Amino acid sequence: MEYANLLLEKNGAVAVLTINRPKALNALNSDTVTELSTALDELGRDSSVKAVILTGSGEKAFIAGADISQMKDFNCMQARRFAQLGHSVFRKIELMPQPVIAAINGFALGGGCELAMACDIRIAAENAKFGQPEVTLGLTAGFGGTQRLPRLVGAGLASELLFTGDIIDVNEAYRIGLVNKIYPLDTLMEEAMKLAKKISSRAPVAVQLTKSAIQRGVNMDIDSAQAYEAEIFGLTFSTQDQIEGCSAFLEKRKPAFEGK
Ligand code: CAA
Repeated sequence: MEYANLLLEKNGAVAVLTINRPKALNALNSDTVTELSTALDELGRDSSVKAVILTGSGEKAFIAGADISQMKDFNCMQARRFAQLGHSVFRKIELMPQPVIAAINGFALGGGCELAMACDIRIAAENAKFGQPEVTLGLTAGFGGTQRLPRLVGAGLASELLFTGDIIDVNEAYRIGLVNKIYPLDTLMEEAMKLAKKISSRAPVAVQLTKSAIQRGVNMDIDSAQAYEAEIFGLTFSTQDQIEGCSAFLEKRKPAFEGK
């Protein structure tokens, strides 16, 4: 499928999804969020895709936020719908089967930081900058920032970032656990691809069930979450990959996983 504001490429089992509005620093208008929804559905259905990399076009921005020129004239109803659209589409990232890696190549502000936080793993370039500057515009964060930032970095740090609108550099983002790794900008995509390929080489059903346990379990009480983990652990013992993985270990060879 062709998209106006996205690029979707496949490299073996890895899909690279690029938000492509570089003139607006990849700002998210409703058309782009709607296209993202369609692309995520397409990828979620594609069993040949084992991992996804999400990034922004150009060398300056991952995503500089929701599109301020579109939002400026919203009424309350339109703003609420826009937030609900963002919520439902970003949640698809958490609930789709494949792991999604955010490769953050510059500004990740507002909706851009929120989109990165909805991804399973965040790696960033040395020029990346993060923040939730909505209060400087007279708004609150609207694509999940008030909920995911406290879950990721704790309520105290999240409150400071959300109340001040301060923008932090990549070293501070790394220090507070917002990103896992920092790379030079010119090697970021190569490193993202290496990570995505490593994940793709693991038993696909086990990886997908692990994602499900993390994403669903994080919102459950510990007993329900452990019961869910026991279920999915049991499920892996109905797969060929479990037989292959354990046999390969005992036979001292590399496993050949087929994803079934
Ligand atoms: N929406 C719309 N357009 C944007 C944009 C945004 N979020 N961010 C940047 N742009 C546009 C600029 O208007 C500019 O367009 P023109 O060339 O047509 O003037 C172009 O992108 C380049 O931007 P700048 O000239 O501003 O570039 P800069 O290097 O001087 O500054 C920046 C970069 C610090 C990221 C600055 O662009 C900026 O502060 N952007 C807005 C960041 C922001 O506030 N994001 C939060 C949005 S609200 C939100 O996201 C709500 C939510 O949770 C749902």
